[in-house]
Amino acid sequence: MIKITIVRYGDADLGKIESFKDEVRGKPAERSQEHIRNFFRPPDYIVLAHAGSKLVGMIRLDVRKEVLVGSVHTTCGMIGGVLVHPDHRMQGIAQMMLKEAMQKLYREKMAFAMLCTDISKLGKLYKKVGFVPLNKPYYFINSDGIPTVDNEGMIASVCERETYELARRADTKINIGPSDA
Ligand SMILES: CC(C)(COP(=O)(O)OP(=O)(O)OC[C@H]1O[C@@H](n2cnc3c(N)ncnc32)[C@H](O)[C@@H]1OP(=O)(O)O)[C@@H](O)C(=O)NCCC(=O)NCCS
Repeated sequence: MIKITIVRYGDADLGKIESFKDEVRGKPAERSQEHIRNFFRPPDYIVLAHAGSKLVGMIRLDVRKEVLVGSVHTTCGMIGGVLVHPDHRMQGIAQMMLKEAMQKLYREKMAFAMLCTDISKLGKLYKKVGFVPLNKPYYFINSDGIPTVDNEGMIASVCERETYELARRADTKINIGPSDA
C-alpha cells in the first residue's frame, strides 16, 4: 500500500530524499550556472510517497505569496520535481501525490497552481488533476534579481477562478516571483 504524506521542507529527512533522487536519476552532473541562478529557492513542502518504509516518490511544493498576474498581487502554488521510482511507475503514484498536493494548495488558499513540464509527453498526467497548457511564456525572478522567461507552463484553478481566468488570458503577464520551480 502507498502512503502519501506532506512535510515542511525544514522538517524533511533531506538525506533520505537526496539518496532517493541520486538512486533514481543517478548522481547529478555539475549544475550549470544558469540552472543555479534560476532554481535557487528551496520548496516550502515536500510530498512523499512511501511503500512501507521505502521512499518511492516525491514532489516539491511551493506556496507563493509574491505572484503578479497582470497588475494583481496574488498567490500561486508551484509544483516541481515530480519523481517516482522506476520500479513503481505506471501504478498511479504520481497522480496520488498530485491529488494530495492540490488539496494542500486548496487548504493553503492558493488562487491557482502552476507547473512546468514537457507538455507533449506528460501533459496527460497533469490534465488528470486539472492542469491545462498555459500556451504562453511566464516569468520568474532569478537569483540576480532579473526577470527571466520560461515556457511549457501548465495552470490549474485552485481557490480563485477569476484570478485563474485572468492568468490564462493571452495578454496577461504572469510573474511567479523569486526562482523557477
Ligand atoms: C512522470 C512520472 C512522475 C510519472 O509517475 P507515475 O507514478 O508512473 O505516473 P502515474 O502512474 O500516476 O500516471 C498517471 C498518468 O500519466 C501518464 N504517464 C505517466 N508517465 C508517463 C510517461 N512517462 N509518458 C507519458 N505518459 C505518462 C500515464 O499514462 C497515466 O495515465 P493513464 O493511467 O491514463 O495511462 C515518472 O515517470 C517519473 O518519475 N519520470 C521521471 C521524472 C519526470 O519526468 N518527472 C516529471 C517532471 S515534470
